[in-house]
Amino acid sequence: MTTPDMRLDPYPHYAKMRATAPVFFNPERQVWEVYGYHDIQTVMSDPATFSSEIHSAAVQSRLQTMATMDPSRHTQLRKLISRAFTTKTVSALEPRIHTIVDELLDRVTSVGQMDIMTDFAFSLPLTVITELLDVPLSDYEKFKEWSDALVQIIELAAQGQAPKPHLLEAVEQIMQYLEAVIIDRQRKPGTDLISGLVSASVDGERLTIHEIASTCRLLLIAGHETTSNLIGNAMHLLLEHPDALVQLRSEPDLLPSAIEEVLRYRTPSQFFGRVATRDVELGGQLIRSGQRAVVFLGSGNRDAAAFADPDRFDITRAPDRHLSFGYGIHFCLGAGLGRLEARIGINALLQRLPDIRLDETKIIKPLTSCALLGLHNLPVRFSPTPQST
Ligand code: HEM
Repeated sequence: MTTPDMRLDPYPHYAKMRATAPVFFNPERQVWEVYGYHDIQTVMSDPATFSSEIHSAAVQSRLQTMATMDPSRHTQLRKLISRAFTTKTVSALEPRIHTIVDELLDRVTSVGQMDIMTDFAFSLPLTVITELLDVPLSDYEKFKEWSDALVQIIELAAQGQAPKPHLLEAVEQIMQYLEAVIIDRQRKPGTDLISGLVSASVDGERLTIHEIASTCRLLLIAGHETTSNLIGNAMHLLLEHPDALVQLRSEPDLLPSAIEEVLRYRTPSQFFGRVATRDVELGGQLIRSGQRAVVFLGSGNRDAAAFADPDRFDITRAPDRHLSFGYGIHFCLGAGLGRLEARIGINALLQRLPDIRLDETKIIKPLTSCALLGLHNLPVRFSPTPQST
C-alpha cells in the first residue's frame, strides 16, 4: 500500500512488488494487493468471483452506488445511466467545454502566471459535471469538500476500513442537498441529467430518490477529481519532458495518444477494491472467500508483460492498452467525457500559452490522497497575452 512519501512516485515500490510478490497479502491491512497487468485484468473481468460490493453491511445502504454493485442491479442501472454518456451526447458538450475553457483562461492569461490546478484543472470538470446535473456552481466549495470526503471513503473501503464519522456526515449532507434538488426536478423537470433520471424507469419501476441521489453523488466525484488529475498530470509531464512538448506542438494530432500515455504513465486513480466471493487462486496464491483484493492500476500500467519499455514516457506509444479506466463491466462510463475535457483543456493551454513553463520559484506539492495520483498545485509562468475575443 502506498505511504505518504510515495505519493508523487509510487512506481519504484510497484516495480519491487511486481518482481517479488505480484499478488501479496498485506498482513497490516488484511488485504491482497494485486500488482501485475494480467492478474488485474483477471480480477476486474470476473465480477462473480471478485465482487464490487466492498462496503460493510452497516454502511452499505448509505454508501452504495452503481460502482459498488454487482449484476444484475448494476447492469440495469448502468444501462440507464449510459444513455447520458453516449458518444453523441458527449460530443454535443464540446462547444460548451470550449467556452468554459476560454473563460477560465481569460481570467489568467494577462497575468503571466497561474496555478494550473487551482485556476484551471479543478474548475473545468467540476463546472462541466455541475452543468450536466444543473446544480449551481456557486456551491463549488461544498462540492469540493464533499468530493474530498467521498474519495477518502473509497480509499478506506478499498482497504477494508470503515469510514470515519465526519466522512459519513459529509455523505449525509450531500445526499440531503441532492435529494432537495431531485424533489425540485420532480416538480419542475428540465433537460438535465437529474430530470432524465427522475423520469427514467428500470423494468417499469422508477428509481427511488435515494438511488438517483447516490448516482448523482457518484457522477460528481467520479467525473471531477480524476479528470482534474489527468489534466494536471499531463501538463506536469509535458513540462518535465521538453522533447515531448516540442513534438506535440509540431504534431498536434498526437494529443489523443499523448493523453492515453499520460493516463498510463501517471494513472489518476491508483487502486480499486474487490471482495472474493469464493476461494480462488491468483498468481499462485490462494485468496479465501470474503477476503479483499486491491488492484493497483498504476502498477499494471507499468508492467513489462504488457508494455515495451514501460518506464519510458512516449506520447507516440501505440497500442496503449492501459487500465486507467478500469476493465470489464465497471469500465469507466465517463471515459469519453474525461478524454474530451482533457483534449480541449490541454490544447487550449498549449495554444494560448506558447511559452508556458514551470515556475521554478515555487514548490509543487502532491495530493494527500493515496488513491489519487495528482498534484495539489502546479505553478507556471508565461508571457502575458490579451484575452481571447
Ligand atoms: C480521466 C478521468 C477518469 C478516470 C481516470 C476514471 C477512472 C475510472 C475507473 C478506473 C473506473 C472503474 C472503477 C472500478 O472498476 O471499480 C471508473 C468507473 C466509473 N467512472 Fe470514471 N474515470 C474518469 C472520468 C469519469 C467521468 C468524467 C465520469 C462521469 C462524469 C466518470 C464516471 C464513472 C462512473 C459512473 C463509473 C462507474 C461505472 C460502473 O460501475 O459501471 N468517470 N472510472
